[in-house]
Amino acid sequence: MSGIKLLGVLGAGQMGTGIAFVSALRAKVPVLLHDKSKDQVSRGLALVDKLLAKDVAKGRLQSSEAQEARDRIRTVDTLEAMRDVDMVVEAVSENVDLKRTIFRSFAEKLKQDAILATNTSSISITKIAAAVLPEGVSAASEQGKATTGRVVGLHFFNPVPVMKLVELISAVQTTPETLDRARAFAMECGKEVATSQDVPGFVSNALLMPFINEAIMCLEKGVASRDDIDKTFRLGMNHPMGPLQLADFIGLDTCLAIQRTLYNGTSDSKYRPSVLLERMVDAQWLGKKSGRGFYEYSNE
Ligand code: 3HC
Repeated sequence: MSGIKLLGVLGAGQMGTGIAFVSALRAKVPVLLHDKSKDQVSRGLALVDKLLAKDVAKGRLQSSEAQEARDRIRTVDTLEAMRDVDMVVEAVSENVDLKRTIFRSFAEKLKQDAILATNTSSISITKIAAAVLPEGVSAASEQGKATTGRVVGLHFFNPVPVMKLVELISAVQTTPETLDRARAFAMECGKEVATSQDVPGFVSNALLMPFINEAIMCLEKGVASRDDIDKTFRLGMNHPMGPLQLADFIGLDTCLAIQRTLYNGTSDSKYRPSVLLERMVDAQWLGKKSGRGFYEYSNE
């Protein structure tokens, strides 16, 4: 049992909204959802409504159950409003400074035993945990160990309601109790858990991103067309999406941010982002979310 009775989710993008959705529906836990953009919050709630309506239409949920799940999600305007949560899951964009600032502020505002989880795809959990150490407190002191020990990586996959896995990453500082509770929570959300060491990209993206990057390089060099690269993996390897379509789906800016973290964190040239990916992000061709990436989308 995770003992999570009230959850905070920070960030109402596709990941944060998905996390709020499975927490409210599967773990049946009340959720406080915050995003600095009101438009983003509205889009997130509209997605939750759409997902619940689909489950009702397919006969997988009673409308009363859908309504109960929807009622469990409340939006809040400030981080202060999250002060009573037992766990917060941060799902903002992949920016280490932003995440460190957010975690420092959480450590000051939230209950002392609240778990501080990040949905980062690649940034060091240890580095994020170090940011919550209060000034003047030694990392080796009991207070230092208790404060930093409640930070953990809880990496969901997109689309969160569909993908069965959560990757659990322990920082150097994470306590066994935090790890156990975070694992239990992921399972209460109906997910299976795989653990990874705190290396750049963890297991998932350390393997996935070089694959996507190589596919982009194949396209760049003219080895094969976009459609043939994707077809090779859809029909030859039974992947649900080819690597270029998957890159669009994840977001090309996110792919680039993860690849930069991998490259900077290892200095290994196998992680160097392709020039084509850099240029597409420069052009704001960010994939499905912006209407254009390797493919075009109507975003109806
Ligand atoms: N949100 C919620 N549900 C969604 C969805 C979304 N964005 N997109 C599709 N679904 C649901 C559909 O509603 C449908 O549900 P149903 O069976 O209950 O009706 C189900 O998924 C299947 O959808 P479709 O029949 O429309 O389409 P597909 O069969 O092509 O499946 C897919 C869509 C599930 C997205 C499938 O193409 C897939 O699995 N793609 C690969 C996804 C993947 O690899 N994700 C991981 C990305 S890496 C990551 O997240 C890590 C990060 O750190 C980068």
